[in-house]
Amino acid sequence: MALSDLQCRRLDEKLAARPGGHSAQYLLFLKSPAGAGELAELIDAITVQKTDLFRDESQLLALRTHVLEPLVASKRRPLRIWSAGCATGEEVATLLVMLAEMGADAGSTVLGTDISETAIARARELCFTSEQLQRVHPMVRDRWFVPVGAGRFTLVAHLKDRASFACHNLMDSPYPAAAEGQGFDLIACRNVLIYFTPESFDRVVGLLAERLAPEGLLMLSATEPLLRTPPGLRTVRCEQAFFYARALEPAPLVPRTPSGSGLPAVGARPSPEVGPPPAATMDRPSEARSSGRFPAIGAERPPVPAVAASAHSEAEALFAQVLEWAAEASEVSPQTADTLRRCLTLDPDLASARYLLGMVLEQRGALAEAAAEFRKALRSLEEGRARATPFYLNNARLQVACARAIERLERAGSTPPR
Ligand SMILES: C[S@@+](CC[C@H](N)C(=O)[O-])C[C@H]1O[C@@H](n2cnc3c(N)ncnc32)[C@H](O)[C@@H]1O
Repeated sequence: MALSDLQCRRLDEKLAARPGGHSAQYLLFLKSPAGAGELAELIDAITVQKTDLFRDESQLLALRTHVLEPLVASKRRPLRIWSAGCATGEEVATLLVMLAEMGADAGSTVLGTDISETAIARARELCFTSEQLQRVHPMVRDRWFVPVGAGRFTLVAHLKDRASFACHNLMDSPYPAAAEGQGFDLIACRNVLIYFTPESFDRVVGLLAERLAPEGLLMLSATEPLLRTPPGLRTVRCEQAFFYARALEPAPLVPRTPSGSGLPAVGARPSPEVGPPPAATMDRPSEARSSGRFPAIGAERPPVPAVAASAHSEAEALFAQVLEWAAEASEVSPQTADTLRRCLTLDPDLASARYLLGMVLEQRGALAEAAAEFRKALRSLEEGRARATPFYLNNARLQVACARAIERLERAGSTPPR
């Protein structure tokens, strides 16, 4: 994991409170069965288990329309889904409800795994508070959740039966397999890999891809898109989100740079930290496009003077071009950095383009330049100048991503802290 300063402090505090906490013997103890309890505590100190029912409306909408509904219609067999890094089970419940709402085969299953035993213990209950359920449409809530007292609700028994849970560290092999050794039709691994180093990110994406059924899909979150599609996967672009499908033919292997593929590129559109409207009432987006430009943001932006508006839309078109290259190629296009620079000359506050430039520079090993771009993006976000871009990180998440990137580069010693 790429621990933030806060996570390092938390870990240090825990270790300092244990006799010999920083010694090699303590490490051995943690690895032994006797140390399992303490190891679990340390894991909980450094993992972020924030989650929610129906998290990220736009992405789930795209998932339903472009992935699950066609799968349900074409497969006519139980679907096998894995929520990797499921935290306390909200994503598992969301997927089960979505499957039920669209009439998927009753034998469809969702496996939830997480490194945290505490999280998995809670996830197994599939029990949620009335506040969490406020985000779910009353009709959907009444169909799939039953009250269990004290303002809590649980999934109906026949949906609960389709869920299974296990403690699993994504850094450990083997990975779970679906029933009868089949691949998974969908693996959701959202908001997990953002905490990983680029090397671990690459490794885990590769291992997850191996666990997909042919044409199965990997769903990362909007903050974890891939800058280049790894071998064996291809990008599936929808109107509002990106997924990665297991390619039928293995893609030729490409040499990897030491900095790893890292991110960024394309993702779902800004996702407020509130739940979406219920699956049953979500509007259908227009059809997926295999190629083409991203639409302008339109009404989501405050009005801007005509000259600025045309510069902004030109910048957006350039940015869309970069995203398109990223979606189509397995390597970063050599024109990417120059195109992003042109885009930023037109619109210096297109913070997602600046973040992307930082990532490209970091991959090339230009660490000081990368840090400077991340800092500029962060400043523009903090000062409220940054504009939102369609189909990319929302500004709140982008701010966190920039801060983490700066921290990462400062910790690597490539750039002095400011
Ligand atoms: C922010 S939550 C995301 C939950 C859910 N996927 C979502 O998007 O709402 C991240 C979860 O990843 C888990 N996690 C972190 N590192 C992990 C690892 N190496 N293996 C498995 N799970 C991990 C954490 O314990 C945490 O519950």
